[in-house]
Amino acid sequence: MNFHVLTLFPEMIEQGLNTSIIGRALEKELLTLQTVNIRDFAENKHNRVDDYPYGGGAGMVMAPGPVYRAFQHVKDQIISKKPRVIYLTPQGQVFNQNLAEEFAKEEDLVFLCGHYEGIDERALELIVTDNVSLGDYVLTGGELAAMVVIDAISRLVPGVLNNDTSAEFESFQDNLLEYPQYTRPEEFMGKKVPEVLLSGHHAKIDAWRREQSIIRTVNQRPDLLEKAVLNKKEKKFLEEYRN
Ligand code: ADE
Repeated sequence: MNFHVLTLFPEMIEQGLNTSIIGRALEKELLTLQTVNIRDFAENKHNRVDDYPYGGGAGMVMAPGPVYRAFQHVKDQIISKKPRVIYLTPQGQVFNQNLAEEFAKEEDLVFLCGHYEGIDERALELIVTDNVSLGDYVLTGGELAAMVVIDAISRLVPGVLNNDTSAEFESFQDNLLEYPQYTRPEEFMGKKVPEVLLSGHHAKIDAWRREQSIIRTVNQRPDLLEKAVLNKKEKKFLEEYRN
């Protein structure tokens, strides 16, 4: 997977992604990360990339030229078919695990990070294929959002997580939240690890974990439950729990 990020703050992206699991995957070249400074594509004396909005109003708008040229620079290096270009914006489709899985299938992904009051609409029309939002709140720029999206995609790339199966068995994969986890000590501040986990009885442990996932989802994300696939026994458990 090759990530290309168009940004006014390349160091923010590089520093944010060069640690921990993603950092290691970059080192191993399971992932590559190219940051492109949009300012390098300004064609004026002071390298200005923003200007006043036509029609007036508060704030500044990122001019189309530098953004468009920065994209062409990246596109010229991509050999694969036309890349998907993801613009991070609160006006986009809300990001989720399904979208992460869809993006993870691509060979190259281009991210466009805006600042100020946004980017000239014409540049967006010319280059963007996907508008993606993290949620209903406004960030100061697209960089943190791009990093969140890149992180979620990266862990789906084969080899990035040490344990090949660990990306499968967790929250959202089947629309249930993850069950609670425990490690040593067996008792902490008077609170004991659930007995069943010490039993060594794997079928019982699996059943208990599924039940805990169901309980959590009912209480914390009931909206997810509609899409969850439960077997007969689990449906019965859910009914009894609700009563
Ligand atoms: N840029 C500013 N706010 C954002 C948000 N909520 N999601 C994605 N990109 C953004």
